[in-house]
Amino acid sequence: MQDYHSFLSEILISEDVLKSRIRELGEEISRDYNGKEILAICILRGGVMFLTDLIRYIKPLVAIDFMGVSSYGVGSRSSDGQVRITLDLTTSIAGKHVLIVEDIIDSGNTLASVIEMLRTRNPASLEVCTLLNKYSRREVPVDIKYCGFDIPDKFVFGYGLDMDEYYRNLPFIGVVDLEKYEDKV
Ligand code: IMP
Ligand code: MG
Repeated sequence: MQDYHSFLSEILISEDVLKSRIRELGEEISRDYNGKEILAICILRGGVMFLTDLIRYIKPLVAIDFMGVSSYGVGSRSSDGQVRITLDLTTSIAGKHVLIVEDIIDSGNTLASVIEMLRTRNPASLEVCTLLNKYSRREVPVDIKYCGFDIPDKFVFGYGLDMDEYYRNLPFIGVVDLEKYEDKV
């Protein structure tokens, strides 16, 4: 049973607000890439909902691919900026206009290593589109071209983001009351 109500402290971003902001982002991306073809790369698994909604609003030709990464860090923190590829892209990105689509940027470690890795594969351009930005937690600078929402330093879930792999299917972004969550599990 999905009984998230016991640890949901607030709905930070509602379904309606998500939808209209994602539409705006899609329109902005469409203007910027007018006449070009986009390869949208989704970082699994958190970015999946965002990717599928975002591309509905993208007008230029867009192809998608997926990349799985896992940080060497323990728990909810990625530690030293090293990530391991758990699932690699199936397409070559050489000469392509690559747009990385992420759920959330926290310390920046995950994305910084992904960007470094992808740069070596010679894309024509490489930009980042993140739904959420926890800017106050940044340890490594990441150049973000498109950002849905700047959010405070709170643990969030829903709309692709998980709590121990569950609740990704919720249509809103909620804040977790960690004490209540820990009492429950
Ligand atoms: P970073 O390497 O610290 O930027 O971590 C980014 C990854 O940590 C994201 O792709 C998420 O998978 C995860 N993450 C960071 N903050 C949250 C959160 O508040 N809720 C769920 N996952 C999070
Ligand atoms: Mg996650």
